[in-house]
Amino acid sequence: MRQVRIEADFEAWRDAARSLLAANVRPEQVTFVEGGLENALLPNLLGDAAIDSPASSAARVPRDFLTLAQIVACHTEADRWDVLYRALWRLTHDEPNLLRIAVDDDVRRLQEMEKQVRFDGHKMKAFVRFRRLVEADGGECYIAYHRSAYRVLKATAPFFVRRFGVMRWSVLTQFDSAHWDGKELTFGPGVDRCAAPTDDALEEMWRIYYASTFNPNRIKLSAMRKEMPRKYWSTMPETQLIPDLLADAPRRAKEMVARHSDRLEGARAYFPTGATITLQQLRDAAQTCRGCDLCDIATQTVFGEGPVDARIVFVGEQPGDQEDLSGRPFVGPAGQVFDQTLAGIGLPRDQVYVTNAVKHFRFEMRGKKRIHQRASARQIDACRPWVEQELTIIKPPVLVLLGSTAAQSLIGRHFKITRDRGRPFQSDWSPWTIATFHPSALLRIPDDQRRAEAQRQFEADLRRAAEEVRRIPVAASAARVLP
Ligand code: URA
Ligand code: SF4
Repeated sequence: MRQVRIEADFEAWRDAARSLLAANVRPEQVTFVEGGLENALLPNLLGDAAIDSPASSAARVPRDFLTLAQIVACHTEADRWDVLYRALWRLTHDEPNLLRIAVDDDVRRLQEMEKQVRFDGHKMKAFVRFRRLVEADGGECYIAYHRSAYRVLKATAPFFVRRFGVMRWSVLTQFDSAHWDGKELTFGPGVDRCAAPTDDALEEMWRIYYASTFNPNRIKLSAMRKEMPRKYWSTMPETQLIPDLLADAPRRAKEMVARHSDRLEGARAYFPTGATITLQQLRDAAQTCRGCDLCDIATQTVFGEGPVDARIVFVGEQPGDQEDLSGRPFVGPAGQVFDQTLAGIGLPRDQVYVTNAVKHFRFEMRGKKRIHQRASARQIDACRPWVEQELTIIKPPVLVLLGSTAAQSLIGRHFKITRDRGRPFQSDWSPWTIATFHPSALLRIPDDQRRAEAQRQFEADLRRAAEEVRRIPVAASAARVLP
């Protein structure tokens, strides 16, 4: 049995595994050991075969496996490298579909580890609690210690960059540390063996990290330990810590961001000034809105689109992934359903005004995907002034609310799509208002029959609205004074 020493990270394992595979070393002939020896010694352990054989097997390794391996590499289970190598061997030797065999022992182990690492990453996002430190020159930075179960900081740090990009911060774990100086993310050593240092200890640690040398990669751990009074490494049981952190995390995060940005709560603070506001002025002003935290993570404001004298306005929920990237409402999958339905009832899209209750995309990262998340009541409240002002300017004779977010924002929390859809009523925004399903809700109905039925109702609601538009004499709307 050969022992292969590797650094405890994915790249080191990948490089070693590649050479082993090329040298045709079977999984039962090898075991991985963490730490110490340089990888450069690997070819010697393998003999000349490793050098001579082309390391081409990687080409046949499924992408899914590499993603899985990257996540599993963050685990701490010592035999994960062996399990990964065995799976890699099997994948490249007549079992290309191995990952789909859920009952296989290796696959089960890998998936279990993957799940634990992912969960630990989520916990890190939720529980990291920053402490604000005022530097000698009056500047501020934030520091947090988080005891993670696995090595999830590298993968999770970009989340903190997105959320707290405007401030300088460090997150320390027992494995490693991440540092953001407002421009660049760097990683340094961890502060191992100490459990959840107190706030004072954090402050002390920061002074040593930053006051001595600003480059965290140059920190000398031994020097740090020597300087750090032992009493600071006091332990707090995690069970005692978690409810506290949970309760405090959102407030602290909000405070941090608020202090470091010029953000004011609510869209109204960003309105153009002047007695009359035109739609174009409103749209321009919304581009730089910082009325809620969504402006920090989304790409851009997605404002309403369509003629100012449109006789029908549609209000959706919030931009999705594609809308966020393109800057235009309803251009993704929901937009396609919407466009098809409009075409079906003979309503040209360029004659209608389309907007959303919330103007920035809210999402959650799942792997590399941005997954839509419902806007919170607070975000809906913060953003409402934009859609209200759009409606005040356009004064549409017909208003269609797509889905419950739009309806609850403009009508009230009591509004229920399942109960109140398809019944026209007079609202503050239009004499003829109707609420119906959201097109993406239609896409999510799994049952074919139920989906077809909901689509039929959706189309019927839109058809009624279109008929109402046609019923109103053109003069009535043309006579309105346009801003
Ligand atoms: N869903 C919405 O509510 N609005 C869009 O713009 C896109 C999808
Ligand atoms: Fe402003 Fe609305 Fe964007 Fe929040 S979601 S920042 S309130 S435009």
